[in-house]
Amino acid sequence: MSKAVIVGATSGIGYETALILLKNGWELGVAGRRLEKLQKLKALAPDRVHIRVIDVRDKIAAEELTALIDELEGMDLYIHSSGIGCQNVILNGSIELDTTATNVEGFVRMIDAAFSYFAKHGGGHICAITSIAGTRGLGAAAAYSASKRFQNTYLDALEQLSHIRGCCISFTDVRPGFVDTAFLHDGKKYPMMMSPSFVAQKIVEAIDKKKRTVIIDWRYRLLVFFWRLLPQRLWKLLPIRN
Ligand SMILES: NC(=O)c1ccc[n+]([C@@H]2O[C@H](COP(=O)([O-])OP(=O)(O)OC[C@H]3O[C@@H](n4cnc5c(N)ncnc54)[C@H](OP(=O)(O)O)[C@@H]3O)[C@@H](O)[C@H]2O)c1
Repeated sequence: MSKAVIVGATSGIGYETALILLKNGWELGVAGRRLEKLQKLKALAPDRVHIRVIDVRDKIAAEELTALIDELEGMDLYIHSSGIGCQNVILNGSIELDTTATNVEGFVRMIDAAFSYFAKHGGGHICAITSIAGTRGLGAAAAYSASKRFQNTYLDALEQLSHIRGCCISFTDVRPGFVDTAFLHDGKKYPMMMSPSFVAQKIVEAIDKKKRTVIIDWRYRLLVFFWRLLPQRLWKLLPIRN
């Protein structure tokens, strides 16, 4: 039986991914801050689901992850789905710093812990849910898009580090467009919305195929292709906001 840990499994994309992996026979360690949601997951397969409350912003979060891996008696796959983000046109400083604390500091804390585990235990697979938002700087969500770019680059760097150190670690960087999760339930209308179960299915397929980078779905692949071609002097004029 294969073993995966998902941090950010209490709702949305992480939760739906957990459901598919469970259906596929995986044994899971799942984490997030909301205990009742973790208990709901455990109730689905009590023998195969191990839970732990982890706040990625907590300084002891890496130790908590290690404890969860120990309880699971090993890990083949680490999925990082934890993240926050919102539009912040007035550039409220605490929103920007909160976003950075979760998506940058929390991300580094957990991804490094997973990397160290795999480095010591003969390899493994790290999959992170980043976003298409990392592919260009978005004026309405500056910290969010910059934090996602940070995640993309961090994974590139760790892939090289894995090679330098002779570890056998695979990386999958998943970049979805808009997904209908609590994340976007802010009263605004978002175009080309995808269901979290559809996105989770694509994530599991990408993991199975050990894809390095995947944009979900094809409409967003097209969008990103074209917006990457735009020079910054034109990009800055685009009123991208809801
Ligand atoms: N929805 C979209 O349109 C979209 C698009 C592209 C990328 N993404 C990315 O997909 C990932 C998952 O988001 P989602 O759409 O599934 O939204 P979601 O339903 O709000 O899920 C966010 C997850 O992150 C966890 N989380 C947040 N802060 C945390 C913390 N400090 N410590 C531990 N866990 C924390 C939440 O768990 P607790 O609250 O229980 O801690 C929850 O499980 C995020 O990284 C997001 O940036 C989302």
